[in-house]
Amino acid sequence: MTTMIKMLMVFFKFCSPKRRRQFYGAIVLTVLMGLCEAAKLPAIWYLFENIFGGTFDLQVVLNAFLIMLIPVCLSAVFRYASSMLQVDGGYSTAAEKRIEIAEHLRYVPMGYFNNNSLAYITSVTTNTMEQLADIATRVVMLVTTGLINTLIVVGSLFFFDYRIALVALGGVIAFLLFNEWIKHMGKKFAPQKEKADLAVISATLDYVLGISEIKSYNLFGKYSKRFNEANEKGTKLYTDVELKMIPVQTVQTYITRLIGVCMTIVAIILFISGNNDLATTMTVIIASYIIYSSLDAMGAFNALSKIIERCVEKGNEIMSIETMNISGEDYKTKSSDIEFKNVSFSYDKKKIIDDVSLKIKGNTKVAFVGPSGSGKTTLCHLMARFWDVQDGEVLLDGKNVKDYNIDSLMENFTFVFQNVYLFNDTILNNLRMAKEDATEEEIEKALKLSCCEFVKDLPDGINTVIGEGGSTLSGGEMQRLSIARAILKDSKIVILDEATANVDPENEEKLMKAIDALTKDKTVIMIAHRLKTVKNCDNIFVVDEGKIVESGTHDELMKEDGIYRRFISERKEAVGWKI
Ligand SMILES: Nc1ncnc2c1ncn2[C@@H]1O[C@H](COP(=O)(O)OP(=O)(O)O)[C@@H](O)[C@H]1O
Ligand SMILES: [Mg+2]
Repeated sequence: MTTMIKMLMVFFKFCSPKRRRQFYGAIVLTVLMGLCEAAKLPAIWYLFENIFGGTFDLQVVLNAFLIMLIPVCLSAVFRYASSMLQVDGGYSTAAEKRIEIAEHLRYVPMGYFNNNSLAYITSVTTNTMEQLADIATRVVMLVTTGLINTLIVVGSLFFFDYRIALVALGGVIAFLLFNEWIKHMGKKFAPQKEKADLAVISATLDYVLGISEIKSYNLFGKYSKRFNEANEKGTKLYTDVELKMIPVQTVQTYITRLIGVCMTIVAIILFISGNNDLATTMTVIIASYIIYSSLDAMGAFNALSKIIERCVEKGNEIMSIETMNISGEDYKTKSSDIEFKNVSFSYDKKKIIDDVSLKIKGNTKVAFVGPSGSGKTTLCHLMARFWDVQDGEVLLDGKNVKDYNIDSLMENFTFVFQNVYLFNDTILNNLRMAKEDATEEEIEKALKLSCCEFVKDLPDGINTVIGEGGSTLSGGEMQRLSIARAILKDSKIVILDEATANVDPENEEKLMKAIDALTKDKTVIMIAHRLKTVKNCDNIFVVDEGKIVESGTHDELMKEDGIYRRFISERKEAVGWKI
């Protein structure tokens, strides 16, 4: 019972005050319902008393009928009102939480958002919240009808015979203790179940997402075997767990019936020994049935309470993602000089950027080179305040980026990646995202500069709708469209994050032309793999394990006997980067 109450408290805390009041209201109504339920007992007793006393007549039936009818009608009204409150409370809580989460995410560092985190956020805001709403609308009803009805019936038994009431109370306590034990067992098996879940999900995802590879390499046999194995293993685990739980659950169901039997036996013994009259005995026997149906309802609550707990936990997890202060003054571009002063940064505990100091003069082109995982992307993200640094400071035009508001910073940065995302909308609308009021000439110019002549040949030209995730265009075409968009945005600082990696020779020339157009008269930071792109930079920073280990122009770096020269002279793939 304590876990049950604790669970309810956690859930109520999760709700907004208004919804909490609705749930409290529902509980009060259920208590009233329980009292109405208990009012049946005096009516029954009254009937028996008159039947056995020989004073039974129509008036008695009418009286008993009224004593029962009024509580039944009232109970119906209370049930209706309580259900309404819970449905409204449950669904509104889920809806409000979604909004709260969306609002919270506005303040979460940009860098937090990646494919993994997006899948997680989506699953919590959709599935989890739906589940929560679904169950929350019923859970209060179950707990309260179960627990409160039982307590009220037991309490009213004290008016008839305290000995029988004590038997009932003992039974209820035994039931609750058993309930706790079952919960404990369920918890013990939870990790096993979760493991089986994960194995099945990951095998299924592998199979479904990799279906084109599986088809083209004819791997059906191999993968369906893996899939089947995971599935079978999952099924076996589920069955094992369930089989272990079944005896316990069966015993639980029969405990409630056993309480009824005990109450009946004690009632009959008391009757035979002359302690109670027949009317009381019969009433108590009927009460024993009411008790166990209420207790059964409470038993059903067990499974649901676990789901609620999990949902609340997940919701709270998202709400506890650390936020940053996104306000600050607007950034107005001056020379767009960037400076790092003893900057250190880590995602969790592991230091990713380690005491980096560097200067990038506005309107120059610089490159970050270094092995994969050395921290190049992170350095660029810190400039645009995707994350706030833990030590040191990042300065833009001499001012700490923390003092600028994030929206205005974003306006002045353009990121070009190798993989781009275009919305399932027309090409025109995808471009207008960068500049809402762009004129036709501006758009045409941007398309021309970024070598997007293919747009003209599409069935609807610029009004062609791009498929989901841009799938109707080739990778190179999408990338050039994203550059056209960046040209329209015309921000002062351009960051090319491995934009030219893995480009095929056929696309390379066009892509380079597009990038040249984009980066003209801009502060450019490129994370590059190719000697060709790096060679003409004004400054090259060699990054290794979160530190700048060398910097200078290509010629300067070639004079030193450092990593850069070694890479160049080897002129082959080295620890993940090509020169
Ligand atoms: N969002 C993130 N959360 C946790 N660790 C991250 C995150 N992004 C990158 N990292 C880790 O930080 C290190 C540097 O990553 P990154 O800056 O992307 O390197 P590079 O661009 O040089 O390949 C890597 O070890 C990477 O695993
Ligand atoms: Mg990177």
